Amino acid sequence: MCGIVGYIGRREAYPILIKGLHRLEYRGYDSAGVALINADGKLNVYKAKGKVADLEHAVESKDVSGTIGIAHTRWATHGEPNQVNAHPHYSESEELAIIHNGIIENYAVLKEGLIQHGYTFKSATDTEVLVQLIEYIKHTDKVDLQTAVQLALNQVVGAYAIAVLDRSNPDIIVAARKGSPLVVGIGDGEYFLASDATPIVEFTDKVVYVGEEEIVCLERGKELTLKTIGNVVKTPVVKKLELTLSQLEKGGYPHFMLKEIFEQPTTLATSMRGRVNVEQNNITLAGFIDNKEKFLKAKRIIITACGTSWHAGLIGMYAIEEFARIPVEVEYSSEFRYRKPVIDQDDVVIAISQSGETADTLAAVELAKSHGAFIFGICNVVGASIPRAAHSGCYTHVGPEIGVASTKAFTAQVTVLTMLALMIGRERGTLSEERYLQIVAELGKIPDKIGEILKQNDRIAEFAKTFTYAQNFIYLGRGYNYPVAMEGALKLKEISYIHAEGYPAAEMKHGPIALISQEMPVVVIAPQCGTYEKVVSNIQEIKARKGRIISVVTEGDEIVRHMSDYAITIPQTEECLAPLLAVVPLQLLAYHIAVVKGCDVDQPRNLAKSVTVE
Ligand code: AGP
Ligand code: GLU
Repeated sequence: MCGIVGYIGRREAYPILIKGLHRLEYRGYDSAGVALINADGKLNVYKAKGKVADLEHAVESKDVSGTIGIAHTRWATHGEPNQVNAHPHYSESEELAIIHNGIIENYAVLKEGLIQHGYTFKSATDTEVLVQLIEYIKHTDKVDLQTAVQLALNQVVGAYAIAVLDRSNPDIIVAARKGSPLVVGIGDGEYFLASDATPIVEFTDKVVYVGEEEIVCLERGKELTLKTIGNVVKTPVVKKLELTLSQLEKGGYPHFMLKEIFEQPTTLATSMRGRVNVEQNNITLAGFIDNKEKFLKAKRIIITACGTSWHAGLIGMYAIEEFARIPVEVEYSSEFRYRKPVIDQDDVVIAISQSGETADTLAAVELAKSHGAFIFGICNVVGASIPRAAHSGCYTHVGPEIGVASTKAFTAQVTVLTMLALMIGRERGTLSEERYLQIVAELGKIPDKIGEILKQNDRIAEFAKTFTYAQNFIYLGRGYNYPVAMEGALKLKEISYIHAEGYPAAEMKHGPIALISQEMPVVVIAPQCGTYEKVVSNIQEIKARKGRIISVVTEGDEIVRHMSDYAITIPQTEECLAPLLAVVPLQLLAYHIAVVKGCDVDQPRNLAKSVTVE
């Protein structure tokens, strides 16, 4: 779920590891720890509850020397977040230390067996069981660390990215993955290891992505070796990193989330670059063109995703059904993977994931693949597991999204889905050339229009102060803007801890209207499009019950503006593109309310950026 960092080379490992943990802190963060082997061959483990800064504080007077080390930020699954449960975990003899992201599902059975062999346990984690098992195998089978890790992993059910240190061999780190990501950076006589490339980018641009069920050995002065847990030797494929350091920094903004909201005019332009040709009014998505037949003969499209990506999927459903007239189902990956869905060889499955690592979405992809469906991935992180598992796809290309609350990834996902819907519709002849051209032309104007909306940031920050008292919020939208209402509510929940729900506006009178009082802020997305008049009636119903209205309206709309306590304007656009504009004020509103409440915007409690466990 969260972060792994490792280093072996000539430099002092600790500063590299700590910096790496800071870079990975966005992924998950309830405790942190580090293990180092010093020049005397002593294996030191230090850990602390809380953030990486708490770990730094805890090691202030400790020996953190050594040119080999591993470090971890934890997002607890087994055992509460405290110092004992934090990683690294020692083995019984304290000869080995392990860090682990993921879940060992059969830990209880393994633990029972180890207890019978006299092993004792200090923590409540599943991870400690794994390091004990590795040690047990290493001692009883008299094998080296790599073989012991391999044999142990053959007994493990679950997901993992692990790294192991061995006091008796200070020249090697053994690491492996299944389900959780792992990248090796290759420097000059040194190796870096991390959950993603962010801790590596400032040292080298040469990386090897460790594959599913692969074990990698980082050995001082030796070539990288890679093999599967089934013992098949693999040749490491070295790739060049495209990431830059400046993409990982806040660039003058107080939070990554605000930076990422403000980046949207640029990120959307990048996402469309080379794909939307405004002069020629044309869209080209290579991933679609190469597999056109699959889409054209599809009887159905299934979109699978989680969280914000699922909201983008719903908007994709509206667009694909409107333009391409192919039935679309949008599924929560976590439900889809377990509910024995009917999947056909003629189905196209679109998997949407910013991180490309979400465990449920990856499992949904594997399931659909095993039934012969064609998989199209829409992901942001290049080289991640979902794009690799998909048959084809399209990257959103918005650069690293560090804020846990997804913003720029969402608008890019909606943009890619819209481009896809337009292309399928044009090819199938279900969308007239005239409409196609109008929408393509308008798509090209969206980045500038978002720029216009961002100019209202100060005003939104000002009126956000009024709403910090609120315990609840309701968000309403219709049609394309119903998923936007849910997305706005999710943003608020995630970072301000205010309970918020998004509803289709007309559903309000079937229940939620009972909640309306003068205490209840209601955010209504009411741009001038198909259902505008209906939404106006819904606003009247709320006003009649003294609810407080924050509206998102089209520029020049005086009717809703006058009915609202606060109105935020968005430029006129096509109905199908309105979500790209309407979501931006909602991102800003959630952000400012959270800031005024003093919440940790970039690292909200209990959340992790990349959910690589179920
Ligand atoms: C978004 O703000 C959330 N943090 C979360 O819902 C996220 O969208 C979800 O976990 C899916 O992640 P993915 O896009 O990386 O698959
Ligand atoms: N399951 C392990 C634990 O609870 C690892 C969690 C993680 O991915 O950080 O300690």
